[in-house]
Amino acid sequence: MSVLHILTEPFPDQKPGTSGLRKKVTIFQQPHYLANFVQSIFDSLQGFEGQTLVVGGDGRYYNREAIQIILKMAAANGFGRVLVGRDGILSTPAASCVIRKHGAFGGIILSASHNPAGPKGDFGIKYNIGNGGPAPETVTGAIHEHSLRIREYRVLDAADIDLTREAIHSLGGMQVEVFDPVTDYAALMESLFDFEAIGSLLRSRDFRMRFDAMHAVNGPYARAILEQRLGAPAGTVMNAQPLEDFGGGHPDPNLTYADTLVREMYSEDAPRFGAASDGDGDRNMILGDHFFVTPSDSLAVLAANATLVPGYRQGLKGIARSMPTSQAADRVAAALGITCHETPTGWKFFGNLLDAGLATLCGEESFGTGSDHVREKDGLWTVLFWLNLLAVRQQSVADIVRDHWARYGRNYYSRHDYEGLDLTSADALMSALRTTMASLPDKVFGDYRVKYSDDFQYTDPVDGSLSTGQGIRIAFTDGSRIVYRLSGTGTEGATLRVYIERYEALPEHQQQDAQDALADLIRIADEIAGIRRHTGRERPTVIT
Ligand code: G1P
Ligand code: ZN
Repeated sequence: MSVLHILTEPFPDQKPGTSGLRKKVTIFQQPHYLANFVQSIFDSLQGFEGQTLVVGGDGRYYNREAIQIILKMAAANGFGRVLVGRDGILSTPAASCVIRKHGAFGGIILSASHNPAGPKGDFGIKYNIGNGGPAPETVTGAIHEHSLRIREYRVLDAADIDLTREAIHSLGGMQVEVFDPVTDYAALMESLFDFEAIGSLLRSRDFRMRFDAMHAVNGPYARAILEQRLGAPAGTVMNAQPLEDFGGGHPDPNLTYADTLVREMYSEDAPRFGAASDGDGDRNMILGDHFFVTPSDSLAVLAANATLVPGYRQGLKGIARSMPTSQAADRVAAALGITCHETPTGWKFFGNLLDAGLATLCGEESFGTGSDHVREKDGLWTVLFWLNLLAVRQQSVADIVRDHWARYGRNYYSRHDYEGLDLTSADALMSALRTTMASLPDKVFGDYRVKYSDDFQYTDPVDGSLSTGQGIRIAFTDGSRIVYRLSGTGTEGATLRVYIERYEALPEHQQQDAQDALADLIRIADEIAGIRRHTGRERPTVIT
């Protein structure tokens, strides 16, 4: 088999974001497009000769074609071995787990997370380093540099590998191992959670749960772990078959997109527990019977109860949350006498804290929670954590959360997204806000007095790197907050995210609807930033 050196021209748009390179499938299908990017990844790495690379994806359209190209290029570039999930499947957290467990040099994950899939949908590719986490900016920056200078890529002239069966193949001098994508991940979960207790809960007659895999990657994982291993009744996992177009849906586990599950959880005969995960399996949504757990509360509850779970019995080294995530976890950290780190939005900021042993649990308000077991957020891990708590505490989801509020207080929380804004007016809003910000401290808005306001910046405690401009934060004297930032992941126009939070200590005031409890602050958020004036929008596009 010979190595072909294919001449090519750079594509100017291959700048990876925090979640890799995400584009329409049709862009990726252009001749040389994917290959250029893969060669740029390899060109920015050093010392991988003879080493192991992990490859897999969320099963979306173009996943398998992309994997065949990557395998032949990895062989031509000198990798010693590639571990590839059967059928090209690997959830993002499972990829992180496999990279760590097998001491791989790194991994390539093919996914555009919750973005719609299919021939007209999105595709994505992301490189993870040896700790199992997303490549840091030094690496993604180098990939981008190489992509602008590329003149040729190397690919082995070979036939496709059969990905449908577990087997070991040789491809030139490289070994390709097609392995079961669930086994390592399931073993890791079993090492962390009390499978016996969870199993008896799932098999008991008065308990019923539903897991919505949304026709995305977690279907096989949830079936294998919840149904086959733990004995939940067949059919517990709905939409379990990963489909190339996710069944035409939008696999983002929130109250808007997981509406079938949500309707069931709010029906008369609702199961006791409901959960969903996203396209690549890293996000999660947790529901009880007629009860929605906000991701911020979920992180706080997991932290407060961590020692009930075998994998965290030793206690937590620290907690980390993204800045816009509610301060509920901070109250738990204070009670436990540990630090709660506040990082900019994006999972990559947690990596250093986890590697350095400064945090054990971390989470974001955007339906992401995880721990130091891998270096990605982990949807099914969160579900198993909740199941472990339900099994030990023998209470409903709602009672566990209400008990939590009674003890720590409730952080009412909501995020309002204004999607598809034109870039100019979104920028104008933010820059006006940066100017107004200075005059806000001590100003009174109804019952609220501004304590401080700033443009959030973060110095990484491990490597000292500084990240600026991470969102405008307005804190009030009673612990309430309003945060404004522009999305870094949107693909059309600009998305303004407004995060609103109010602290309530008294249990008799903790049972309101969040939008009602936050109504005054929502008005104040508009008054301060002039959202309607700048955007012309009367209301947000999405409320979570
Ligand atoms: C969004 C979420 C953020 C998450 C990211 C990737 O980013 O808000 O918490 O880490 O997706 O899943 P944003 O669009 O707000 O920049
Ligand atoms: Zn995702």
